[in-house]
Amino acid sequence: MIGTLRRRARLGQAMPFALTWDDELVGMLTVNGITWGSARWANMGYWVARSHAGRGITPTAVALVSDHLLTTAGLHRIEISIRPENAASLRVVEKLGFSEIGLARRYLHIAGEWRDHRVFQVLAEDVPNGLLSRLDSTR
Ligand SMILES: CC(C)(COP(=O)(O)OP(=O)(O)OC[C@H]1O[C@@H](n2cnc3c(N)ncnc32)[C@H](O)[C@@H]1OP(=O)(O)O)[C@@H](O)C(=O)NCCC(=O)NCCS
Repeated sequence: MIGTLRRRARLGQAMPFALTWDDELVGMLTVNGITWGSARWANMGYWVARSHAGRGITPTAVALVSDHLLTTAGLHRIEISIRPENAASLRVVEKLGFSEIGLARRYLHIAGEWRDHRVFQVLAEDVPNGLLSRLDSTR
């Protein structure tokens, strides 16, 4: 998996990040589908170990990486797609103020079935002061 991610990162298609807590690897955030030209978008996926869930690690990581993508890296739009029953992940985008743009029917093939996903986005102009500052103001 690390080899594949490194290869895709070298090709400019992905940015993988390790999430750590006290120097321990506790999760991952991966930016996928980086698309340039007139699109300048990417999507994001993440997970955190059950032992470290509920500490705000993922929203902080999403905010930090989004701010990097929408400023230094020069992307315009970030998308996160979430299964409707995934309450914890829905809270992550809610806390960060992502906008819901629709339902993608049968979007990904997971555990033997095509699963619907709710699709959320943030645009560079939505967050002139960055996503991290938005997260700080909701604490
Ligand atoms: C979704 C996920 C990444 C959230 O990460 P996190 O770092 O725990 O995020 P937060 O700390 O902001 O918690 C989000 C919500 O999880 C729930 N939660 C809190 N403690 C929890 C715990 N111990 N175990 C599970 N969920 C918990 C709460 O609803 C919380 O919302 P709240 O802060 O309003 O109470 C994590 O639950 C996870 O890895 N899930 C499995 C993989 C997954 O679903 N990835 C996303 C695919 S779209």
